[in-house]
Amino acid sequence: MRQQHIAGAATALLTALVPFASAQLTTDCNPTENTTCPVDSGLSNSTYYIDFTTGDNSSWSGAIGTTLSYDENGAAFVIENENQAPTLMTDFYFFFGYVEVEMRAANGTGIVSSIVLESDDLDEIDWEWLGGNNTSVETNYFGKGNTTSYDRATYVDVDTPCDTFHKYGINWTPEAITWSIDGEDVRTLNYSDALGGKNFPQTPSRVSLGVWSAGTKKQNYWTVQWAGGYTDFDSAPFIMYVKNVKVINYNPGMNYNWTDTTGSMESIKVLNTTVADNSTAYLASASASAAGTANTGSSSSSSGSFAQSSAGGDSAASASMDRAWILTGSISLIGFALGFALF
Ligand SMILES: *[C@@H]1O[C@H](CO)[C@@H](O)[C@H](O)[C@H]1NC(C)=O
Ligand SMILES: *[C@@H]1O[C@H](CO)[C@@H](O)[C@H](O)[C@H]1NC(C)=O
Ligand SMILES: *[C@@H]1O[C@H](CO)[C@@H](O)[C@H](O)[C@H]1NC(C)=O
Ligand SMILES: *[C@@H]1O[C@H](CO)[C@@H](O)[C@H](O)[C@H]1NC(C)=O
Ligand SMILES: *[C@@H]1O[C@H](CO)[C@@H](O)[C@H](O)[C@H]1NC(C)=O
Ligand SMILES: *[C@@H]1O[C@H](CO)[C@@H](O)[C@H](O)[C@H]1NC(C)=O
Ligand SMILES: *[C@@H]1O[C@H](CO)[C@@H](O)[C@H](O)[C@H]1NC(C)=O
Ligand SMILES: *[C@@H]1O[C@H](CO)[C@@H](O)[C@H](O)[C@H]1NC(C)=O
Ligand SMILES: *[C@@H]1O[C@H](CO)[C@@H](O)[C@H](O)[C@H]1NC(C)=O
Ligand SMILES: *[C@@H]1O[C@H](CO)[C@@H](O)[C@H](O)[C@H]1NC(C)=O
Ligand SMILES: *[C@@H]1O[C@H](CO)[C@@H](O)[C@H](O)[C@H]1NC(C)=O
Repeated sequence: MRQQHIAGAATALLTALVPFASAQLTTDCNPTENTTCPVDSGLSNSTYYIDFTTGDNSSWSGAIGTTLSYDENGAAFVIENENQAPTLMTDFYFFFGYVEVEMRAANGTGIVSSIVLESDDLDEIDWEWLGGNNTSVETNYFGKGNTTSYDRATYVDVDTPCDTFHKYGINWTPEAITWSIDGEDVRTLNYSDALGGKNFPQTPSRVSLGVWSAGTKKQNYWTVQWAGGYTDFDSAPFIMYVKNVKVINYNPGMNYNWTDTTGSMESIKVLNTTVADNSTAYLASASASAAGTANTGSSSSSSGSFAQSSAGGDSAASASMDRAWILTGSISLIGFALGFALF
């Protein structure tokens, strides 16, 4: 089976006063629209760590056109011209957990570096850097692909992100999402504050790392404004370096099954949960108590359990191995009108 995968980025504008943002808007099969999507490949280990300085990239797939080099700074995501958008994505999904990426954003006005957690129904949690900005980083989120409001982004201070390696964390629980830099929390989004939970990312997600150019003539005026202006490719290369990635999966399992079309966390069944060490498993409440207290620190809290099953299924494993990506340059969006700009 050959699947086509549209990866890209979208930016939107409601008014010139609203901060700009971008959503990655990408899925192979949306389980809220299609009841026969394959189950997701899970992460059976409760922890996963990769050190890109060794050149190891196992468990990751590159988007079409992605060729990375690896050195003591880690994986180098290089942009030399406007047609490049190197992107790496995990072959596995995880279901609530903690992700930490040690990285340095790409320099260059108009160049966007990103860490994105993305689910099959377009729940999304983001970190985004604008290469022209040496003092701040954007946090953002989307629920079920709802991009109708672009008021969700915040900008937080960070020390020279294009020159200095930092550890960017996302602690994602049924109750809250907390973004952190070098271990210090910089934003918490409570479940109930995301449109009463409706816009709260809550389904198994992959980790995606990438860089693209928003400062080109292909982009609309507002995208270029958001990105800080046009990119001067004479100053290239612009390089994002990722040293390592750590994932703690609060619901380890071989597969995740979407048992209905609601896209709710309660509808996700974790299959084949036997793991070598599940001491960090986050056994979240399957009830709507998701609106409860934020878990910003350790991953050890537990209260109840998600529906779990040992009934097997491995179709997603092969599906994800055979994933083909078509990388779009960017999907620019003014108001609610989408315009595709294929490379
Ligand atoms: C639903 O998903 C299956 C499996 O990926 C695919 O073969 C089928 O074409 C999809 N149906 C629709 C209507 O998208
Ligand atoms: C999963 O855990 C096992 C046992 O601890 C280890 O050998 C293996 O390398 C881990 N796999 C990954 C992808 O981290
Ligand atoms: C992953 O590593 C392999 C082996 O070093 C290399 O051939 C391949 O190009 C790498 N893939 C990416 C996307 O960097
Ligand atoms: C960021 O700021 C530092 C310190 O002021 C400076 O050395 C560096 O050149 C700046 N980098 C960029 C990409 O502007
Ligand atoms: C961006 O950084 C690269 C090295 O990482 C450097 O070669 C290039 O001159 C820098 N460009 C700008 C505009 O700072
Ligand atoms: C960087 O972004 C922050 C937040 O949007 C903004 O206040 C600041 O002016 C920007 N700096 C530059 C150099 O664009
Ligand atoms: C999408 O989100 C906006 C605000 O964030 C909300 O007003 C709207 O009702 C949401 N749409 C759906 C379909 O949930
Ligand atoms: C996934 O859930 C659906 C709906 O409950 C069920 O029909 C299907 O058999 C399940 N798949 C696996 C692999 O367990
Ligand atoms: C994993 O967690 C389950 C549920 O808490 C527990 O019953 C089981 O003994 C644990 N397994 C291991 C190997 O720790
Ligand atoms: C999130 O919820 C917790 C617990 O109810 C509360 O203490 C905290 O202030 C809330 N955070 C925000 C940003 O509203
Ligand atoms: C999942 O667990 C069930 C029951 O223990 C087992 O029969 C099945 O083979 C397992 N599936 C995989 C893919 O390992």
